[in-house]
Amino acid sequence: MAMLASTTSAAPRTAAPSVLARHRLRVVPVRAGGKKKGKGGGGGDASSSSSPERVDRLLSRLGYCARGEAKRWVGAGRVTLDGEPVRRADAKVLASSPSLRIDGEAPEFIHGITAVMHKPAGCVCSHDNREGPSVYDLLPERWRSRNPGVETVGRLDKDTTGLLLLTDDGALLHRLTSPKKKVAKVYEVIVDADLPLDAPALFASGTLTLTGESKPCRPATLALDTNDKRRGSLTLVEGKYHQVKRMCNAVGCEVIALHRSSFGRMTLDGLAEGEVRVLTREELERWIGPGEDAEDEEGGDGLEER
Ligand code: URA
Repeated sequence: MAMLASTTSAAPRTAAPSVLARHRLRVVPVRAGGKKKGKGGGGGDASSSSSPERVDRLLSRLGYCARGEAKRWVGAGRVTLDGEPVRRADAKVLASSPSLRIDGEAPEFIHGITAVMHKPAGCVCSHDNREGPSVYDLLPERWRSRNPGVETVGRLDKDTTGLLLLTDDGALLHRLTSPKKKVAKVYEVIVDADLPLDAPALFASGTLTLTGESKPCRPATLALDTNDKRRGSLTLVEGKYHQVKRMCNAVGCEVIALHRSSFGRMTLDGLAEGEVRVLTREELERWIGPGEDAEDEEGGDGLEER
């Protein structure tokens, strides 16, 4: 786990300019056997029936070109069905048609993209390039042009490494970031001083209210490393702004390295830093599940998953 150069209170650090060059994303192919069930995004590139849609909408949805450019694409014969050029941008086609080709290839990820990235340090989870190199810069160009776009599910800090989900499925994004859902996220943390022995009980109590918050943190599990008192594994079921760093601050420790090792039942499963893998619908259901509604009502305070 790489050490953090900055903490919550420190001034933002400009990432090494080479971070994007160092992490040229390797897109790991979708695993075999991933057929999507029902409507909605996510779930890799499985084929199933869906409704015919206008070619201009399809091209824009999948990130090939803007809707306004579709006429030119069609005019240039770049979209073919059964080997014949599609003549009109408003013609309706079935994205899953086995004979549909765009620039000679079957269209990509017609049912949406939900992917897991092993986020490297030095990239922000933001579209604002003034904040520094972005995880979006690591994605294939076509993914970035999709409409609706691929977004991170919550955010990790610039220096945090580990498991980051991305999806173009708005309903899934909402489900996974809703404060009413209890999706467990595990963070491996290294701090600058020994973690107090009573920290696990405090975190588990559900009584710790962070500075500036009106509601206490939900009960969290801190497992202290038996060999190194400066290391622990913290499981959260929510995502307040800089939550791990602020919780550690509350017990007198500064986080010097942070890595998210799991999200729901999903782990990085051998994914190397800088790699991304598209998930199948089965993997999503198996690893994230339908999500449990919290028993109590939680309005949230606008700080969820910054
Ligand atoms: N908590 C933090 O403080 N930072 C992260 O990146 C994620 C959780």
